[in-house]
Amino acid sequence: MTTWVDKDTCIACGACGATAPDVFDYDDEGLAFNTIDDNTNTAEIPEILHDDVRDAADGCPTDSIKIDG
Ligand code: F3S
Repeated sequence: MTTWVDKDTCIACGACGATAPDVFDYDDEGLAFNTIDDNTNTAEIPEILHDDVRDAADGCPTDSIKIDG
């Protein structure tokens, strides 16, 4: 699994960092990004965090969290 946040649609709601704090944090504008690979969608997410990432994606009101794999 890899993941990234589409900052063009993120509305800085703040949910994903609460749901998956080991994967998502916020930039100076409050927009979320994947901290593991600096939102480049290149690093494999550790398996132990997959459920958190899926929960965060399901909970994002704008479907801005993208998951590959
Ligand atoms: Fe943005 Fe969705 Fe997270 S709106 S702050 S990517 S839950």
